[in-house]
Amino acid sequence: MEPVRVGIIGVGNVLDQYLARASMHDEISVDFLADLNVEAAGKQAAQYDIPKYGSVEELLSMPEIEMVANFTPPAFHASVTAQILQAGKHVFTEKPFATSLTEAEELIDLAREKGLKISSAPATLLGGGMQTSRKLVDDGFIGRPLSAVATFTCRGFETWHPNIDPFYSPGGGPLLDLGPYLVSNLLNIFGPAKRVSGVVSRSSETRPRYKDGKRVGEIQVQVPTHISGNIEFKSGAVATLITSWDIWNASLPFMEIYGTQGVLSTPHTAFYAGEPTLRRGDPRDLTNDWYPPHGGDWRTMPLTHRNDVGRAIGLAELAHSIRHSEDSRLDMDFAYHSLEILLALEKSSASGSYVEIESTCRRPAALPPAGADDPIRFD
Ligand SMILES: NC(=O)c1ccc[n+]([C@@H]2O[C@H](COP(=O)([O-])OP(=O)(O)OC[C@H]3O[C@@H](n4cnc5c(N)ncnc54)[C@H](O)[C@@H]3O)[C@@H](O)[C@H]2O)c1
Repeated sequence: MEPVRVGIIGVGNVLDQYLARASMHDEISVDFLADLNVEAAGKQAAQYDIPKYGSVEELLSMPEIEMVANFTPPAFHASVTAQILQAGKHVFTEKPFATSLTEAEELIDLAREKGLKISSAPATLLGGGMQTSRKLVDDGFIGRPLSAVATFTCRGFETWHPNIDPFYSPGGGPLLDLGPYLVSNLLNIFGPAKRVSGVVSRSSETRPRYKDGKRVGEIQVQVPTHISGNIEFKSGAVATLITSWDIWNASLPFMEIYGTQGVLSTPHTAFYAGEPTLRRGDPRDLTNDWYPPHGGDWRTMPLTHRNDVGRAIGLAELAHSIRHSEDSRLDMDFAYHSLEILLALEKSSASGSYVEIESTCRRPAALPPAGADDPIRFD
């Protein structure tokens, strides 16, 4: 298969996590880096041996580039994605897909009108930890999946991220920055959602701003910093999620799935590392293992899929779908449904009632198993 030639817009903090493993994916060839800061694009191009760099306009005028990845901060996602579509190129966008449903609908309409694809990060559901978890559920290791808890909590990113303001501005916050990992991975297990309820809170109006490890002022906090919610899926299963930048540390599970015959604890939903652990229900074992938490006979399960794939697996999967005229697993219907669920959590908190979810999506097809030296297949 002729690789899809890819350009990238936005050469900030996340770039390394894509480029570090991009060369292992034969479906793509990253040929151009663009940024408002052309000098920064040049430095990254030199580091990763990428043949060309320059402005967004230069990238979008290159006929050989078929797909463009949008790695700008969230507030620019919709406008940059629209610019890429207008130039006649497929889009892979970092999360969130958009910051409002209106923006998302406009992008979908534009993509359909142009006959182009958009798929959205997170792609962690394609990684080894999550595909192995999915296979264990589909193969019946926990019986019928009934419920789940999914969490992504920390104290915020102001101590390490060099461009912190977007994280505390509309489009950011744990809801849209971390929530997509939880919701996409839950949708991968349970399929589409029916309704949600949520409560959100904000612990302070400002946060300390740091530069080179020193406090240099304040960040205005414009978004909720703690979200807890419940999702009811069309299958009848239910999930609880917590995402927060108000928790210093926790011993919460990353994602646990509870079935009629057992429990599966997955690795972190945002990374490509770790194996799932499984505890099968045994009718002879009626012990309530409350102390210590996670007591009982948990088994670490061998991976059935590769986990060394990096974030570039999302680009490779979209490239495969382009070459084979198939839907991407992370397509715009999936991204829209995920966004509608997340925004509904905040809406539910404001209204004090459940919010029905109007959109739907396909449950992404599982990837074929692949051992450590096998090629990753998307068919
Ligand atoms: N940093 C991480 O660890 C991480 C992990 C996963 C996902 N993400 C996601 O990746 C995206 C980017 O995050 P980041 O941390 O790399 O941000 P960043 O602020 O470090 O980098 C953003 C880059 O985009 C450029 N940019 C901004 N607007 C632009 C425009 N209109 N045209 C061209 N370039 C523009 C900036 O100059 C900057 O180089 C976000 O959506 C974030 O949610 C980040």
